[in-house]
Amino acid sequence: MNRTWWKEAVIYQIYPRSFMDSNGDGIGDLQGIISRLDYLKYLGIDVIWLSPVYQSPNDDNGYDISDYQNIMDEFGTMEDFDELLAAAHERGIKIVMDLVVNHTSDEHKWFMESRKSKENAYRDYYIWREGKDAQTPPNNWGSCFGGSAWQYDETTGMYYLHLFSKKQPDLNWDNPKVREEVFDMMTWWCDKGIDGFRMDVISMISKTKEMPDGKNGDFGPYCVHGPNVHKYLQEMNEKVLSKYDIMTVGETSGVTTALAQQYAGEDTHELNMVFQFEHVEGDGKYGKWTDEKIPLITLKETLSRWQTELYGKAWNSLFWDNHDQPRAVSRFGDDRPMYREVSAKMLATCLHMLQGTPYIYQGEELGMTNYPFQSPDDFHDIESINAYKEWCTEGKLSHAVFWPCITFKSRDNARTPIQWDNSPQAGFTVGTPWIAVNPNYTTINAKAETADVNSVFHYYKKLIALRKENPIMVYGKYEALMEDSAELFVYTRAMDNEKLLVVCSFCDHETNFMIPAEFVGTSCLISNVENQYDKSEMTLKPYEAFVLHRK
Ligand code: GLC
Ligand code: CA
Repeated sequence: MNRTWWKEAVIYQIYPRSFMDSNGDGIGDLQGIISRLDYLKYLGIDVIWLSPVYQSPNDDNGYDISDYQNIMDEFGTMEDFDELLAAAHERGIKIVMDLVVNHTSDEHKWFMESRKSKENAYRDYYIWREGKDAQTPPNNWGSCFGGSAWQYDETTGMYYLHLFSKKQPDLNWDNPKVREEVFDMMTWWCDKGIDGFRMDVISMISKTKEMPDGKNGDFGPYCVHGPNVHKYLQEMNEKVLSKYDIMTVGETSGVTTALAQQYAGEDTHELNMVFQFEHVEGDGKYGKWTDEKIPLITLKETLSRWQTELYGKAWNSLFWDNHDQPRAVSRFGDDRPMYREVSAKMLATCLHMLQGTPYIYQGEELGMTNYPFQSPDDFHDIESINAYKEWCTEGKLSHAVFWPCITFKSRDNARTPIQWDNSPQAGFTVGTPWIAVNPNYTTINAKAETADVNSVFHYYKKLIALRKENPIMVYGKYEALMEDSAELFVYTRAMDNEKLLVVCSFCDHETNFMIPAEFVGTSCLISNVENQYDKSEMTLKPYEAFVLHRK
């Protein structure tokens, strides 16, 4: 297996709108990020993945881009960006940009031209079709954010495709001019010195020519992992990516281990790694909405399969949460005050000891929790707003049934401001934040945690440091133990003559555990509670995690 910097790195995702506000308008910005780089340096991360900072009307918080080569006014200027890049590089931190090229904003100049007439030079940059008739779209596909995936446009009497909101028209990647424009834009950013791309819904860029109705309106079979997606990524790799020492990670919802070997194979010349979503999807009762935890056995089966099937062939990315997912500790751990810290540390251990590149979503290193929503008016996210309307207002479910589900899974959980200290608005802004701060900031905040060596923050810092000292954490081969346990996630990693035993309890009570003979008396690399590991029989505390190291 090739050793590379991006396999050894720990990546930290910044959602700029909620990270740090420097000028009191309540919106996080680039100068805010610059002011917190020393915090990230202290944590020890290697790479920042910056969620979109480009010009955008913010229908989907920057994932609807109207100009790829300009910075969103609310976030600052291109000079601020250049300053951020230089300041990060000075500290040895790389910056990976979010690349959102499945779609643009409807306010992008290409689309504004495209919709003008059927003959416009940009017409074929997007996907236009005749409706079945004036009232009926070309097919029954539903968009990810609810409603039809087609929007009727009066000027030319045709429909355009939008797999997300109607302000996010899909680009037509079959048009070579579109690919050329995208590749030129990427080259421009690479020449600026950025260190890679996280590619938004990149598995959706190639659509089938025929666009038949989908089963229950599902566009999946026609738009996800479509006919030319690998061809286009190989072309992108040849024309752009291969020319720079950068890293790439593709967001590929619905990806299987077999497909991941193609997208991110060691020698397939596409991407370095992909985000798979099996461990965070498929738990829904109502679409993606649920109030239930994923059973541990299912979670382990999924993650183990990814570990085993990619080994030596492709590279995993590891994450519990991001800006589209609820907070990790609330979802997979236990956010009740007595278990929040210990379970957050357990989850961190479990993830960082797996093979792959770990991603930390902003605030995860503090054990930030889901938000206590009081009413549907609290939602800002287009997905939650539309979903509440579709499921409740339009009468499919009662509020009482749907409310626990939408509050458990809403993307807004991850988008509340970073809790920097216990001053008003958690030190995120001196103004009024664009989205409410979680009231638990008085106890959960970066100032308190950086000052406390036993905090979740310091635990993450230690895990990151251990990764630098122990290549086995990066390259060791994974093996699952106790696969039938519904309470414990146990596995080993092996490399040369070294071996790690990783034990993580996912339950809120004590459990018995037998340390395998070969690990009895070996040294403890890290643990989240005080316990003894010198004899085989032992009792694990609630949410205990430890790692033994045999050399
Ligand atoms: C990705 C992004 C998400 C966005 C969607 C449309 O899934 O992570 O935030 O809404 O793509 O761009
Ligand atoms: Ca601001």
